[in-house]
Order: sequence, then structure tokens, then C-alpha cells
Amino acid sequence: PKAREQIIKKINVNPDIKKDVPKVVDSFDVEDIAEKASFCRCWRSKKFPYCDGAHGAYNKETGDNVGPLVIKRQSK
Ligand code: FES
Repeated sequence: PKAREQIIKKINVNPDIKKDVPKVVDSFDVEDIAEKASFCRCWRSKKFPYCDGAHGAYNKETGDNVGPLVIKRQSK
């Protein structure tokens, strides 16, 4: 079972986040985003749904090239 868990963690896009729900959905009001917000797309962030830089180690380990979605508020 431990080996199986390891394999599933490797092939699932999401290895750990909110595994007790059938679908992980996060939503935000645009008004609540300050100047800039970075959202995780590698599913490895400890601050998910925000990016904490974990994509760097993940890319290094796997040869992947994923990074965050960055949303910026236009300054007026
Ligand atoms: Fe996941 Fe940055 S930590 S994209």
C-alpha cells in the first residue's frame, strides 16, 4: 500500500491537497485581490491555492516547467 501511494502521488496532478473532497475548487472576488496575487498551478504549494515557490523544487525533480498564474491589478 505504501508503494502504491507513492505511485499514485507521482501520477496524480494533485498529490496531497484536500484529498477528502471530490473536486478542489477555489474562488476569489477580484475586488479582494490587492496589487498582485500568484496562484499555484503545480499543486505542491503549502499555501495552496497561492504559490509558495514549491514549483522550483518540483520542476528540478521532474524536469517539468510549471509555474504560477499571476494576476495583477492595473494601477490607475
Ligand atoms: Fe505551485 Fe508555485 S508553488 S506554482
